[in-house]
Amino acid sequence: MIRFLKQSKIILFFRILLEKLVESVVYAKYIANGGRNKDKDKFRTDLDIRTHALEKGMSIGSVKVGFGKEKAASIIADLKKFLSIGGDKEVVSNYCGILWKYVSFNEELGADMSDIKSSIEALEKSEGLERVDCGGIIRKNRQELLSSLDSSFPVFSQTRYSVRDFGKDPVSISVLERALEMCEKTPSACNRQPWKVYIYKSDAIREKLFELQKGCNGFYKDMQYGVLICGDLCAYNINELHQLYVDGGMYAMNFLYSLHSLGVAAIPLTMGHKPSVIKGIKKSLGLKESYFPVLLIGVGSYPDNYKVAVSHRMDYRKYTSLV
Ligand SMILES: Cc1cc2nc3c(=O)[nH]c(=O)nc-3n(C[C@H](O)[C@H](O)[C@H](O)COP(=O)(O)O)c2cc1C
Repeated sequence: MIRFLKQSKIILFFRILLEKLVESVVYAKYIANGGRNKDKDKFRTDLDIRTHALEKGMSIGSVKVGFGKEKAASIIADLKKFLSIGGDKEVVSNYCGILWKYVSFNEELGADMSDIKSSIEALEKSEGLERVDCGGIIRKNRQELLSSLDSSFPVFSQTRYSVRDFGKDPVSISVLERALEMCEKTPSACNRQPWKVYIYKSDAIREKLFELQKGCNGFYKDMQYGVLICGDLCAYNINELHQLYVDGGMYAMNFLYSLHSLGVAAIPLTMGHKPSVIKGIKKSLGLKESYFPVLLIGVGSYPDNYKVAVSHRMDYRKYTSLV
């Protein structure tokens, strides 16, 4: 009888509903867009996203001169608010570092950035901020990268960057197959290997997917493949509803390193969308209902010279505790 009840879909539905109800209380309390203006951690999430958007903009192959001025001005105004609710000065200095890089980038292209410059200077002066060298872009060379790929992991792992500045050399499907072969070794919960991987090559479907993804405007036409990593919900029980994203995330990182080891340029692209958007994407791709996209990976080739966003990293001691 208990066995029957445990397997009943109706009972399962109500158990999930209850779990989700309990979960929504915690989500409503902590998710970053609720009560953001009074919570420095939530406010910081928003600032991280917006400043990184400027940094990403600089790393795109062909970018509009003077792009993002409205965004930059609104970030500067919000940095003052962030400090007024107890935001960390060191974090604000890092944001300003990215803003200065954004200013010089656009000035080099010939844009008039005097208004943005004077707003950052005024903020630095009124808040006594230290000026730091942070963020922006780094210019890279394909040959140098290729000759460094055999290095040991501590070196190799530091040379992987998300690429938004692609070249024209075709990437053969056999290279992707080699990367997928390497990824067979990815660990998963109870070795269930619940991955479903779709390689979109044809122009029409690939571009449609990139358009729906929305995080690669400005460079998606230069990517030759969209690799969608999904997980199958049928591989999980009620106690592990998020495990699909853990297993999928492990796979995705492994795939990124595998591509990197083969000298292929790639970028992870979020599939973090509202359920209604995900439903639309799944429908337009004809995915099975039980398959859930975890991450889209854009793949292409390196040009001889290219740029990448720095994406400044925190010292691990900032988030690690030895207990
Ligand atoms: C889950 C995930 C989603 C991402 N989504 C996007 C995206 O939609 N568009 C984009 O340009 N970059 C995206 N990125 C790339 C991040 O901006 C990048 O990984 C981060 O800044 C660190 O830089 P790095 O990959 O060069 O080390 C994503 C990365 C991850 C891990």
